[in-house]
Amino acid sequence: MKNSIPKSLYLFYLLISTFLLFNYSVVQASSSGQAAIATAHPIATRAGEQILKQGGNAFDAAVAISATLAVVEPFGSGLGGGGFWLLQDAKTKKTIMIDGRETAPLSANETMYQDRQGNVIKGLSINGALAAGIPGEPAALVHIAKKYGRLPLSKSLVPAIQVARKGFRVTSLYRRMVNFRLKALRQSPAAAKVFLYRNKVPYPGYLVQQPDLAKTLEAIAVHGHAGFYQGDVAKALVKGVQAANGIWSLKDLASYQVKERQPIVGQYKNYRIISAAPPSSGGIALVTMLNILEHYDLEKMQPAQRIHLLVEAMRRAYRDRAEFLGDPDFISIPVNELVSKSYAKKLVKTMTVKTATPSSDLKAAAPVPQGRHTTHFSVVDKEGNKVSATLSVNYPFGSAFMPPGTGVLLNDEMDDFSSKPGTPNVYGLVGNKNNAIAPGKRMLSSMSPTIVENINNSDYAVIGTPGGSRIITMVLHGILGFTEGKSVAAIVNKPRYHHQYLPDIIQIEKGSMPYKVRKALELMQHTLKELRGRYGNMQLIINQNNKMMAASDPRGEGLALVIK
Ligand code: GLY
Repeated sequence: MKNSIPKSLYLFYLLISTFLLFNYSVVQASSSGQAAIATAHPIATRAGEQILKQGGNAFDAAVAISATLAVVEPFGSGLGGGGFWLLQDAKTKKTIMIDGRETAPLSANETMYQDRQGNVIKGLSINGALAAGIPGEPAALVHIAKKYGRLPLSKSLVPAIQVARKGFRVTSLYRRMVNFRLKALRQSPAAAKVFLYRNKVPYPGYLVQQPDLAKTLEAIAVHGHAGFYQGDVAKALVKGVQAANGIWSLKDLASYQVKERQPIVGQYKNYRIISAAPPSSGGIALVTMLNILEHYDLEKMQPAQRIHLLVEAMRRAYRDRAEFLGDPDFISIPVNELVSKSYAKKLVKTMTVKTATPSSDLKAAAPVPQGRHTTHFSVVDKEGNKVSATLSVNYPFGSAFMPPGTGVLLNDEMDDFSSKPGTPNVYGLVGNKNNAIAPGKRMLSSMSPTIVENINNSDYAVIGTPGGSRIITMVLHGILGFTEGKSVAAIVNKPRYHHQYLPDIIQIEKGSMPYKVRKALELMQHTLKELRGRYGNMQLIINQNNKMMAASDPRGEGLALVIK
């Protein structure tokens, strides 16, 4: 029976969810050659396990996990959003990036979020139907299943369909996310009906059931791509969007295409770095930073010295992100130059080991606005096929808008474009023409699903995290930890800090940096800002010294498994 849990059990659930939170960071070790999964939600991890046990490969498991996360972690990703799936084939060792990023609707234009005076209208690219790009996740799942999977969608979507129908229980993280987006969710009656309880934040343990979403998933299971982008689902999506002042058309949906892209590949010491290509900025920024850091003996340094150099590398890579990156189908990007060792050498010459370079001294450019939520998962099957995937609806619960009858919560990824190139946006950040809105264009992303391989042996890491513009630097910390031989637990637990060129500050997790280190950094002319909490939700699998280990970030509620 739906939501039969009495409110009197509220405290009980509060206790349970607190207990689960502390219990959720699972770390396991086994001999290599096993399968492993790490995702942000235990139900999604179990969905992947179920599909592997039914004879599916890592790519089938990735389809099942993505679809299940769309149901149980609606604030992170979903059918109404998009993402990047890095797939590595065990036999050929080839890695390909599936680009299921959203696109701007065909009637979108560069000034659509500005008023007549040219000022950006606050919230228009964040809340409601106008904020939504054309979703890419359904197309990507169909493509992965058809081209790389062994099981039909009628099998790999079963776990997601079942949980959409039966429901999942509300946790403390879910409640925090709803609270953050409560006002926007209340604006969409269909979304409020599904995600709220009597128009309020649901109590812990409340059962969220999504029968409309189950039907949409079934349409995809039966009709594939056309099940979402044509027919009844497409009509209901467009009708709902247009009724809420959005600009989608049936042509937008019918013309959406998933892209296969070559990932960005770099080398750091004796490790191969394989990461997301544009329209993500992640791979290029990671390789630029690692190429810079290769010039220093980081492991022998005092903490403040190491942090200073990492921050200087971050500052430069994020400056380039803003200056050069966008949708490669629309602009020309000097990829080879940006990931070259010679370019990093030039950047190193602009750095000093003692003092911060003010961002204002670097050529003017600035980062674009970034979302706060998203999700990541990592999967390896017994044959060694690997998936590193980061998916998003942008802000928690995306645009918070759900077209009635579809169960599909739409993204607000349009906010990842520069709403007004050249002048500060709602976040006080300046965007760049390269990432301006254009019909059919993909918005620049920071999502950085990554695979790291030791060139001399069989060690590897499958790594990624949500976290908006901080994704790239979290993955950098993770890669450095792995290459320095840190344990899987140490890597996901590590306190995090971040610099993104502008604003010119080092953002640090609450309570994570000793006073002495902070003082030393301030003496080097850095400005520090302690955040109100911790950030990210890393899902990591590593194979180290013939042992396979998996970990789910203790900051989240996920589950990591090594499957015998
Ligand atoms: N919406 C977050 C990102 O793509 O970077």
